[in-house]
Amino acid sequence: MCGIIGYIGNTSPIDILLNGLKHLEYRGYDSAGIALGNLNRLMVIKAAGKLANLQQEISQSSLLSSPNRGIGHIRWATHGKGNAVNAHPHTSLNGNLAIVHNGIIENYKDLKAELINQGYVFQSETDTEVIAHLIGFYLQQGSNLHQATRQACSRLHGAYALGVISQAEPHKLIAVRHHAPLILGQSRSGNYIASDIPALIGQADSTLSLEDDELAELSENNISVFAADDTICHKTFKPLTMSADSIDKLGYRHYMLKEIHEQGNITRQLLHKRLPSAEAEVNLPDINISSSRLQAIRQIEIIACGTSLHAAEVGKYLIEELTGISTQVMAASEYLCRRSLSSEHTLCIGVSQSGETADTISAIRKAKEHNAHILILTNRPDSSITRYADSLLPLEAGIEVSVAATKSYTAQLVAFYLLSLYLAEHLHSVDAAQLSALKQELLQIPTQIETILQNDQEIKACAQQFNHSRNFIYMSRGINVATAQEGALKLKEISYINAGAYPAGELKHGPIALLDETLPVVSILIPGGSGYAKLLSNNEEAKARKAPLIAITSSQDKELNKLFNHVITVPQVSELLSPLTTNIPLQLLAYYIADSLGRDVDQPRNLAKSVTVE
Ligand code: F6R
Repeated sequence: MCGIIGYIGNTSPIDILLNGLKHLEYRGYDSAGIALGNLNRLMVIKAAGKLANLQQEISQSSLLSSPNRGIGHIRWATHGKGNAVNAHPHTSLNGNLAIVHNGIIENYKDLKAELINQGYVFQSETDTEVIAHLIGFYLQQGSNLHQATRQACSRLHGAYALGVISQAEPHKLIAVRHHAPLILGQSRSGNYIASDIPALIGQADSTLSLEDDELAELSENNISVFAADDTICHKTFKPLTMSADSIDKLGYRHYMLKEIHEQGNITRQLLHKRLPSAEAEVNLPDINISSSRLQAIRQIEIIACGTSLHAAEVGKYLIEELTGISTQVMAASEYLCRRSLSSEHTLCIGVSQSGETADTISAIRKAKEHNAHILILTNRPDSSITRYADSLLPLEAGIEVSVAATKSYTAQLVAFYLLSLYLAEHLHSVDAAQLSALKQELLQIPTQIETILQNDQEIKACAQQFNHSRNFIYMSRGINVATAQEGALKLKEISYINAGAYPAGELKHGPIALLDETLPVVSILIPGGSGYAKLLSNNEEAKARKAPLIAITSSQDKELNKLFNHVITVPQVSELLSPLTTNIPLQLLAYYIADSLGRDVDQPRNLAKSVTVE
């Protein structure tokens, strides 16, 4: 979603701001802007569309001499269109104050009416502009920049991460957050703020995550952090170890393709760390649930959105299979709409790649209020959601730049395999021989993923044949229904082709009416698995209605070539572990279709990497 960068120091801020924004582009945006300040004045430059438009505006502007600070923003429209007027920074006091904001101000209409009554004139349709005018108002009342920002924040309902600069105090950059992430960075040449770490890679040497309601005052050579009650906090910055490679395409055509190809290594490293051998116990050091509390767990709830919700569906299947504990999966937004049955006998698992998804955070907060033990699976252990965590399971998939989740999904699946094995070990719900066989098979997965990635000719051929279809159906039975849902979501997101996903048994209850020669059906079938024979029958029914058929399967049966137009094979694997392999061809299928249609694969329209609004 939106992204923030800010800098104060002894280097010109322009390149720092543009570099930072470039590294945040992956979050999705529709306009961009920067404000620069020197000791005499501020200037703001904004543009609709991509950063290239902002760069052009900058190159055509007569810039301030010797700026010592600046703030930059990419905006994903929520209040008002994605045009230059609504782009951040927003200003007050005749341009002597500029702010950038991530988040949403829920009471902005009331505040706007109040400010208009006092004579303030609004340029934009945004909620953000009220914050600029409010800070301006308190500055005019005699407050300093720190106090004025605090006073303005005390009037706001909602979520915000703010960067503020003003001519009143030209050696200061103020940062404050409430329910939206904000990071501070340090380097020899100056100090930074950013909404996410990638903006600081290659720029800052060390970083610190600001906590809710903390306010930071940055100058050229100092950062002071103040707690909510404005007492000074003593904070330790951590070295920023992420290399520029982690946000480089490394020769791949798109980040998505690079991230798909990283999955062998990521799963290998994660398994190596948590399960070094089939004889070892699963090692999850950040799970802090006591043995007595675990024994008392009566239900498990898994809360997530989007792709993470599909990982949750696989997780439910695994946990129920290996522990026998009843497990429910809920879309976070739906959990928020219903009576919560969570209690101290509930283990509530929140799954979020970014750890910043507003729906998931709110739902987890609600479950925590009902005394559930909260376990968070996330790729960003320093993200906002971890504030509610009693236990943590980091995914360690590295920064995912492409908007469409791929490697984080596979890492979420591995995390659920590890977690369900861990629970089975601690609850003694599965005998040792079965556990060890499962572990043995799990440890083979990284190599199997690599085998699939090296043999993608059939997937490419399939993509070429069907890239002009306007609709797809994905189906399976059992644990791979979630894989079908995830495959369909990937296709929709990046190719803009409609795709429905169903438990195959449901086809005959309605969707079968859609079938004809224009509607490809993708099936995931694992021989020996539940319903293999029935899935074949469902495909026969589809073929009788002329639908082209695509199989993702570990079967070696040559007869399948008679039934299916394309048979995409994955290595042999038990049904329980198959979501780890069957998903990979579906990611590639979506990728090759989208790329052949010329879509913006890494930044699909209307989507954002982390959805920080409910
Ligand atoms: C799909 C995708 C989204 C996210 C969803 C939840 O490719 O990326 O559906 O999965 O917005 O995001 P996280 O996992 O960050 O909470």
